[in-house]
Amino acid sequence: MKKVKSVSEIRRLITESKKAGKTIGFVPTMGGLHAGHISLLKRARELSEFVVASIFVNPVQFGPGEDFSEYPRDEDGDCRILEENGCDLVFLPDASEIFSDSRKIGISIDRLTDHLCGSSRPGHFEGVLLIVAKLFNIVAPEMAFFGQKDAQQAVIIQRMAAELDFPVKIVICPTVREEDGLAMSSRNLYLSRQDRISAAGMITGLREAFAAAGKGERDPSVLKALIEERMKASGFEPDYIEIVRAGSLDPVDRIEGTVLMAAAGYLSSTRLIDNIAFRAAGKRVEEVLLEFPDWSRHGK
Ligand code: PAJ
Repeated sequence: MKKVKSVSEIRRLITESKKAGKTIGFVPTMGGLHAGHISLLKRARELSEFVVASIFVNPVQFGPGEDFSEYPRDEDGDCRILEENGCDLVFLPDASEIFSDSRKIGISIDRLTDHLCGSSRPGHFEGVLLIVAKLFNIVAPEMAFFGQKDAQQAVIIQRMAAELDFPVKIVICPTVREEDGLAMSSRNLYLSRQDRISAAGMITGLREAFAAAGKGERDPSVLKALIEERMKASGFEPDYIEIVRAGSLDPVDRIEGTVLMAAAGYLSSTRLIDNIAFRAAGKRVEEVLLEFPDWSRHGK
């Protein structure tokens, strides 16, 4: 596996791979790698011929008072994991290689970046879109891989790629979980022993709500109350609990079609998020991976 820090060097290597006729699959990360990231790498390995990952703790997606300086950083450990899981090339830029002091541009998407996580983390998704757009331009992948764990992020990246004509297919991969259901996250490392036990309460609440939908409950406020009750009983301070249309992220007033039940909450000072997407058709409910409307004008 090659390790590259400069934009010019990665561009040279990517051009070489493209000339050799290889399709590029890209897995952007902020490091602190775990089985969730590995699942994206494996999918990239299956679907593409040259797998590129990036590790960059992106300063512009962290708000003041967030965990930018504490964010887990272990370049050597992460590179070992990447190499063992079929990565061909890792991009590890310093912040100065990516952002100049005179940066003036920002990317936002009407409404999509403002609610759910956007309302409690102002500017977060603009920071995500900016880095992802830059990385797409640097790496020029045919496919890029994102986790459903960060569902809103996946939706806005898909939307940006479609509306700005990035010639990249966004592939969404299922959330990888610990045995008790807790979604894997680099931030789980911050949890105390007690909070780690409590943390499964969020997915338990989401699953209880999903089970209630399976029994015919179609009122989102009833499902949201179930999630809230379970989260609070487990020790969470809920940040938001929302049920939205999967593609537009607009709140729904009745459960039908494909919806995303998303929750965020604090355990001590650690903020965790999780979600379940499901399709309700008549009496049936079925858990699904996020689906996107085809925004592309080119039929990609
Ligand atoms: P990071 O949190 O490192 O996540 C990188 C990718 O791994 C994202 O697509 C995320 O959804 C996915 N992922 C994280 N936990 C997962 C899990 N338990 N199961 C499946 N996939 C999981 O998300 C970011 O970094 C950044 O915002 C980034 C897109 C790299 C831009 O800076």
